[in-house]
Amino acid sequence: MKTALVIGAGEGIGAALVNHLVDTGEFDHVIAAGRAASTHAHPRVSAVRLDALAESTSAMRNRLTAISPSIERAFITIGTLSLGPRPEKSVRELDPATAGGIYAVNAIAPVKAAEVCLPLMRTGYSTLCVLSAQVGSIGDNRSGGWYSYRMSKAALNMGIRSLALEEARRPRHATVVAVHPGTTLTGLSAGYVAGRVGVADPSSTARRLNRFAARCDRELHGLFVNWQGDRLPW
Ligand SMILES: NC(=O)c1ccc[n+]([C@@H]2O[C@H](COP(=O)([O-])OP(=O)(O)OC[C@H]3O[C@@H](n4cnc5c(N)ncnc54)[C@H](OP(=O)(O)O)[C@@H]3O)[C@@H](O)[C@H]2O)c1
Repeated sequence: MKTALVIGAGEGIGAALVNHLVDTGEFDHVIAAGRAASTHAHPRVSAVRLDALAESTSAMRNRLTAISPSIERAFITIGTLSLGPRPEKSVRELDPATAGGIYAVNAIAPVKAAEVCLPLMRTGYSTLCVLSAQVGSIGDNRSGGWYSYRMSKAALNMGIRSLALEEARRPRHATVVAVHPGTTLTGLSAGYVAGRVGVADPSSTARRLNRFAARCDRELHGLFVNWQGDRLPW
């Protein structure tokens, strides 16, 4: 049985990925994991409650294994732009407690979610895409601002890099990549990108992310790339 998994399936790109993975017919089974009960009603979708910041790794993994012992493709789409009124424009707006909360969601939760699913992905051909963001690139930062989001995504990239190196020591390990999905109109971005040219809708982003994952080269293991597969500077 061929299984795909989305962690962070409640909204935006994650929800669109679940729909797309079902529509392609490529998978016998799609697991939609998130903090709340999934609204995806389809015979090939299994909803799983999963909170990577609140639960033990073994409890979460047991729940996934009970549905499918093996996962061929997974997307981790957890992320938040802000936990306050808006992302910081200036360092004066950087609040330690809020920034810590954003760090937990953007850097810790996706890495813990990856820890949960990677043992189920040691097939020799599985791919795990963890959604990062180009604004988390230090080398590409030309405008500043958005301190907590930028800093936490840079930290996520480091976490994924370490995890990929650790995983590479295992036989038949999955290909693990940090992926910038491209600017997409979702709840996360709506206040900043609505009406802008070149902004994708979630279903288009889901389609191109899945196309990327299906062709993902093993040489991209442990790298930071965009949805077209181009390497991004750390
Ligand atoms: N939209 C863009 O233009 C854009 C650009 C670059 C990168 N990205 C990245 O792409 C990913 C998906 O973004 P999106 O635009 O689809 O955002 P979204 O619609 O807000 O969805 C984000 C997902 O993250 C989870 N999440 C949100 N807040 C959380 C919290 N406080 N604690 C734990 N989980 C939380 C939710 O999962 P559950 O409710 O299912 O648990 C939700 O489905 C994010 O990592 C984002 O940084 C997006």
